[in-house]
Amino acid sequence: MALLEATAVTVQFGGVTAVDNASISVESGSITGLIGPNGAGKTTLFNVITGLQSPTKGRVRFRGQDVTRSTVNSRAKAGMGRTFQRLEAFGSLTVRENVLAAREIYGGVRSWFGSRQDKTVDELIDRVGIRQYAHQRADSVPTGVARLLEMARALAIEPRLLLLDEPSSGLDENETHAFGELLKDLAADETAILMVEHDMDLVMSVCELIHVLEFGKVIATGTPGEIRSDRTVQAAYLGFVDETSESAEAALHALDEIAGAVDDTRHVDDDTSAFGEILPAETTMELPTVDEEGRT
Ligand SMILES: Nc1ncnc2c1ncn2[C@@H]1O[C@H](COP(=O)(O)OP(=O)(O)OP(=O)(O)O)[C@@H](O)[C@H]1O
Ligand SMILES: [Mg+2]
Repeated sequence: MALLEATAVTVQFGGVTAVDNASISVESGSITGLIGPNGAGKTTLFNVITGLQSPTKGRVRFRGQDVTRSTVNSRAKAGMGRTFQRLEAFGSLTVRENVLAAREIYGGVRSWFGSRQDKTVDELIDRVGIRQYAHQRADSVPTGVARLLEMARALAIEPRLLLLDEPSSGLDENETHAFGELLKDLAADETAILMVEHDMDLVMSVCELIHVLEFGKVIATGTPGEIRSDRTVQAAYLGFVDETSESAEAALHALDEIAGAVDDTRHVDDDTSAFGEILPAETTMELPTVDEEGRT
């Protein structure tokens, strides 16, 4: 049985069907991609999986349990972690303090471990490779580092499944490569990953399975090779199906170009500050609180 199964999920916002009878799955310890054009419903489907959004129809099963009606917190306690398309860290705290805060919230009553907690925080910072920034304020680090900080914060809850919404935006080519290696390491350690991502090179190089959404519908599910050569996917991105043998390459190029255009428009301000648009701290803390029972 898959670690995560979202079955026949539909989300309607008034007259807009953001997700339309979509079914996707993630296997334990695997990296799965969720791709599709802007507005396809990727973030909305993530929100249904993590519990931020109730589906109009459909079910979500995680680790064999139906969690469709469970809260965000109980899903987090069961091992569902996520990062956000928009950066969510506390700008006025240091990188290390941000990870410590995530860890303490997760730890709840377990924070009596004290020094062990500190050790775990340092391990998390090392794991994502941002030790040299540990004592800088989070709002002063480059966007790429802020993305990795988001990863460290998400990992602080020791997730079985990590949902990443556009994790590579703001990373340069070398950072993206290193990030791909980190994802593979995590998967090898049995942390499954579901990733929304516009960087097709990253998606194609790390994902074992890819789901493609268009207008809220899953139009294809397959391995990177299958997705590259899928006529429906080509048509969705290109507007036509090329009959020549180069069609798959052409589709991939088009995907990259779409991704590039998206990144160029969306991250215009990122060079100056990763936290340009950030909300006050009290409204941005999206990490789960844990009650006295601890993690189930
Ligand atoms: N809270 C909401 N209320 C109304 N409509 C919404 C809401 N959230 C999303 N939508 C609409 O649902 C559709 C899917 O949006 P969603 O953000 O899930 O797409 P996406 O695939 O994540 O896009 P992107 O690649 O731009 O991040 C869009 O048409 C969007 O305008
Ligand atoms: Mg989105």
